[in-house]
Amino acid sequence: MTFTDLNFAVVGATGAVGRTLLSILAERGVPRENISAVASERSKGIKVSYGDHGELMIKALNTFDFSTTHIAFFSAGGDVSAQYAPIAAAQGALVIDKSSKFRMDADVPLIVPEVNSDAIALAVKRRIIANPNCSTIQLVAALKPIHDVSPIKRVVLSTYQAVSGAGQKAMDILFNETKTVLMNQPSTENKLFPKPIAFNVIPKIDAFTSDGSTKEELKMIDETKKIISANIEVAATCVRVPVFIGHSISANVECASAFDLKDMHAALKASKALKLPKTADQFFTPVEIAQDDEVFVSRLRMDTSVPFGLSLWIVADNLRKGAALNGVQIAEAVYKHHRKLLRK
Ligand code: A2P
Repeated sequence: MTFTDLNFAVVGATGAVGRTLLSILAERGVPRENISAVASERSKGIKVSYGDHGELMIKALNTFDFSTTHIAFFSAGGDVSAQYAPIAAAQGALVIDKSSKFRMDADVPLIVPEVNSDAIALAVKRRIIANPNCSTIQLVAALKPIHDVSPIKRVVLSTYQAVSGAGQKAMDILFNETKTVLMNQPSTENKLFPKPIAFNVIPKIDAFTSDGSTKEELKMIDETKKIISANIEVAATCVRVPVFIGHSISANVECASAFDLKDMHAALKASKALKLPKTADQFFTPVEIAQDDEVFVSRLRMDTSVPFGLSLWIVADNLRKGAALNGVQIAEAVYKHHRKLLRK
């Protein structure tokens, strides 16, 4: 059996990440017959496109049977995952879950394949693998090669996160608000963001916690520790910006010991997950890297405000490497190295 012979279910197939998952599975050559596109009862019977392979009819999750599914991708929010991922796992599917529901559970691996694919073996008990937060994925992909050259003590970062991270409806809101402002029409209330997002930036993603942080910021802190090392301290500020696709991160890294900038550059360049510019005066922006698979690292330079400091700018397509692509890469790593997790 090859990877493309497996049966896949995509739960959340009408959403921004679900649609990207379908297009990546189509790019990989998985035949249409091997894919179940699943969403809520509301969407039952509607069609979604399957890359160049035609269309798929949406099936309703509440009646869907996972008993022939090898791998079930869940991207329909935490509540749906909480209710249905254990059912899918009990029916023999291996779940790759995009929600934050299970990420910090000790017996659920949290995986970025280029960083910690060995941890996939942990999935043997619950049959659930968690896909990290979109910003965490691109952060740890860039931090791991640095950590391997000189252990990281602390990272201070700010994110510039695209609206697609909040789903398909958020993209519609940015589009409509932008139009409204440019046409000088009265603004309509948006229910997804706490302030207008067109021509604005919003330093609040997800709910506030009791210490004044946001849940998104805590996700980046906790998930980085789980994926790379509990010894890394992280200070994060997460900001929503009026960009459709592509998250950016400005990061200041403090290492434990002296390093050569050339060695850091070489280590980052050697990572399969990363792409660096040819010259130091080139840099990457979301618009040019949307639809690409790599995490793009530029503006690499010493941070002389601390003894062993490094500054960098990290950009990635949040729907691909930040979500759907990382999920498919987890599935590929399972197929290559942990096949006994898959049903016969
Ligand atoms: P639906 O379109 O039927 O509501 P996004 O994050 O882009 O907003 O997408 C969310 C995805 O999660 C959609 O595919 C949506 O399907 C799906 N979804 C939301 N609630 C449920 C549910 N109760 N059962 C199954 N799928 C759901």
